[in-house]
Amino acid sequence: MFAFCGRGGIEMPRLGEVFTGRVRDVSSAGAGIVEHPGGRVFFVSGVWVGEEARFRITGFRNRFGYARLEELLAPAQERVTPRCAHHGPGPSDCGGCPWQFVDYGAQLAAKENRLKAALSPLGLADKPLPIWPSPRPYGYRNRAQLKTDGERIGYVAAGSRRIAPVEDCPILTDRNRTHLRELLEQLPNSRWRQRKRGRWTTVDMDEEGVSIDRRRPFRQGNSDQNLRMRDWLKARLAPLDRRLPVLELFAGSGNFTEVIADTGFEHIVAVEGVGEAIDRLRARGLPGVETWRQDLFADGAWRRLGRNLEEVGILVADPPRRGIENARGLATAARKCRDLVYVSCDPATFARDLGVFLEAGYSALEIQPLDQFPHTPHVEMLAHLHRDV
Ligand SMILES: C[S@@+](CC[C@H](N)C(=O)[O-])C[C@H]1O[C@@H](n2cnc3c(N)ncnc32)[C@H](O)[C@@H]1O
Repeated sequence: MFAFCGRGGIEMPRLGEVFTGRVRDVSSAGAGIVEHPGGRVFFVSGVWVGEEARFRITGFRNRFGYARLEELLAPAQERVTPRCAHHGPGPSDCGGCPWQFVDYGAQLAAKENRLKAALSPLGLADKPLPIWPSPRPYGYRNRAQLKTDGERIGYVAAGSRRIAPVEDCPILTDRNRTHLRELLEQLPNSRWRQRKRGRWTTVDMDEEGVSIDRRRPFRQGNSDQNLRMRDWLKARLAPLDRRLPVLELFAGSGNFTEVIADTGFEHIVAVEGVGEAIDRLRARGLPGVETWRQDLFADGAWRRLGRNLEEVGILVADPPRRGIENARGLATAARKCRDLVYVSCDPATFARDLGVFLEAGYSALEIQPLDQFPHTPHVEMLAHLHRDV
């Protein structure tokens, strides 16, 4: 690879080159962000904000690049010893918990900062309340997806398409750790062999069991934090008029539907796209709840909800990371809606959608972040918006 000079005689980065830099931030995927002396930005796993180090360039993508830590010159005070033997930034290490080497308090501060940065263009940087830490920083994860090729079982390695085999996983709940031990005892297993390159057998587990090559219905991944979310929702709904029709979007198997029904609302429509989830929701037989299976990202999704949307007084939405993609259409169609509870797992799409609801006349009464997934950059938000109609 040739070195070449850009404008002004600054040397452009080369593959394999080692440069010295300071980590200026962390990305939404958890990697350190470092600037090359030539100005190009590189993502580096396993480094923390403020650290000075030597980095080796490993690849380029569009205007960015990737590098790996070569030598840590000034480590951050926030560094701690990871509890998991499989944690690390290397190509054969597990990529599941990229921040396990960082003190938990510093992780929480980074999550708060990310949310503030996302809300800053809306003038709401100071709106979020302090983040709720996970009561259990380890042993919290009640669901997980692993991969196996019949010889090994593990997670997908950091920044690669390889299985990082694991013998244990301390973020899993005790029950899931037991599932993992039982799965390991079944290796080698010819039924789990890789049928195609890059296509492993998938192992989904949760507190209820293990499925091979079949996704289990969504559930909130941290049971302690889910209880807090449910309590929060109940407290926000409690003062509202029970006669107002409630529309719940992305209802899953009814985790929040149950809270809405328990609060005593008379008419609730719960909408969800996955058949197995809606079957479970129906099987709960919740009073006042009508279930509706629909793809909420399809064109015309709001139109198809018809009067359920036109008449709604209270909206509850808990979308996947994509957020409520056509929030403008939703805000326009739900013209009688006064209260909107938005549960989000992505600060960027949350801020995008929030901007639309603010334009539609809502104001943000409360934004409560919480940590569902310690040692990862994931951050969850609970928001209560209101407008007078
Ligand atoms: C973050 S989960 C929330 C589930 C539920 N509120 C809970 O607490 O368990 C998002 C839900 O959106 C559903 N979903 C994803 N894509 C969808 C789509 N295109 N249309 C409708 N629902 C969808 C998922 O199946 C999942 O149940």
